[in-house]
Amino acid sequence: MRLTLKIFRYDPNTSAGPHYDRFQVEADPNDRVLDLLEAVRGDQDDTLSFRRSCAHGVCGSDAMRINGLNALACKVLVKDLNSDTIQIEPLLGLRVEKDLIVDMEPFFAHYRSILPYLINDEPLPEDGKERLQSEAERERFDDTTKCILCAACTTSCPSFWADGQTIGPAAIVNAHRFIFDSRDRGRLKRLKILAGQAGVWRCRTAFNCTEACPRDIHITRAIAEVKQEILKHS
Ligand code: SF4
Ligand code: F3S
Ligand code: FES
Repeated sequence: MRLTLKIFRYDPNTSAGPHYDRFQVEADPNDRVLDLLEAVRGDQDDTLSFRRSCAHGVCGSDAMRINGLNALACKVLVKDLNSDTIQIEPLLGLRVEKDLIVDMEPFFAHYRSILPYLINDEPLPEDGKERLQSEAERERFDDTTKCILCAACTTSCPSFWADGQTIGPAAIVNAHRFIFDSRDRGRLKRLKILAGQAGVWRCRTAFNCTEACPRDIHITRAIAEVKQEILKHS
């Protein structure tokens, strides 16, 4: 089948402002959008810029807007789009560096702000090996361990679009992963951060984040659980 790709272009080194370029490509229904981008870059325009690494939905580097919805280009199949024209644009809410590449630093700064690592200064158990937890304790935060930091959720959140200061759903998901880990002792520190002005109360339960997540994480539910935890400790 023959498809048109309408791709957002921006190069800060030229005088041309942001615009769209159209490319005709031959595609198989089972091709992924990433395959089409590779075909354009390989055969038609080697200046086309986008991020990718694993090509298998693991690294989180190729999140972009595909026909208006945030997704990983390596996970979206042509046949699922059901359209002769595919519009591909960079994520919203982050500065465009070139074409489909955005500056991820504000996103990672929000991620770092919630202390995304295990905090526990207590002595190790007597065998000196590991801090054990039950299956139920591990299950408690299993869903939020699946995050690959692709930013599809945060950049689909209206509260984040408003000013970029909102900590965003991805940071809350990663805070949840430690807040509900029975081995962690940094819970109160994180809850204090998330109770702040840019934290969980900026969430208006829009659900865009949950719909955008390529890992099917129940993000809005995780945010609600963190909100409840803050209220419990306030
Ligand atoms: Fe991506 Fe989902 Fe993690 Fe958000 S929660 S960064 S959408 S994997
Ligand atoms: Fe934003 Fe998700 Fe809340 S889209 S408003 S963080 S439910
Ligand atoms: Fe790694 Fe798509 S290229 S998730």
